[in-house]
Amino acid sequence: MGFVKIFRKLYIKTTNFTRSYQGRDKKLVSFYKLWSFCYDISVGLDPAFGREMKKMIDSAVRRGNFVLDIGCGTGISTIYASKIANKVIGIDFSSDMIGKLKQKINEGGITNIELITGRFPEIFPKTLRFTSIISSFAIVHFPPEERKTIYKQIFDLLENNGRIGLFSAQGEIAPSFETKNEIINNLESVGFKNIHNSDVSDIYRIITAEKP
Ligand SMILES: C[S@@+](CC[C@H](N)C(=O)[O-])C[C@H]1O[C@@H](n2cnc3c(N)ncnc32)[C@H](O)[C@@H]1O
Repeated sequence: MGFVKIFRKLYIKTTNFTRSYQGRDKKLVSFYKLWSFCYDISVGLDPAFGREMKKMIDSAVRRGNFVLDIGCGTGISTIYASKIANKVIGIDFSSDMIGKLKQKINEGGITNIELITGRFPEIFPKTLRFTSIISSFAIVHFPPEERKTIYKQIFDLLENNGRIGLFSAQGEIAPSFETKNEIINNLESVGFKNIHNSDVSDIYRIITAEKP
């Protein structure tokens, strides 16, 4: 058990190098081109990743919801959300990562997921309104000074009483991620209420909040 804790903490500390990629889209796309081949295997090495991500989705997504998954990647969160929601839109600027999800959708005959390959928020249709917006390990790729603007965009894309669900690592352990105070301040400043933070499985962080 102690070994797993140490392994997780060491692993998440290695993600600090991605700080230098924040906001550098071309670098990120090249990085995910390589990582897409082993992404699912790599995150699957820690069973807590999938388990805690599902907890975030269970808290943020309700039956019949219309969901947006920002930085959906290979679709671990997108597919799980699609089992609860009416419809899920996934957006990701890595055609390699989203390509893996397309393959899963085709193989699984999933009919309620729609995908957009491109950068959030620029290419996203501003007229859509969601009951739930989720994002797992993607907000970290925006530079810290842009995150408030991103949360404002998310707030505007939610219906009233809509929910946001975020899954990430704890910034107190891995500084490329937000600390609890940073994320709560950011969400409060753009208007979110009922902000709830849970630190889980040594390194992970689940945040849920509501648009009034
Ligand atoms: C660490 S992966 C997480 C994938 C998935 N959400 C998960 O938790 O397994 C981060 C993903 O976010 C995507 N991403 C980062 N910034 C983005 C942006 N501004 N617009 C669209 N996708 C973005 C990357 O391409 C990558 O696939």
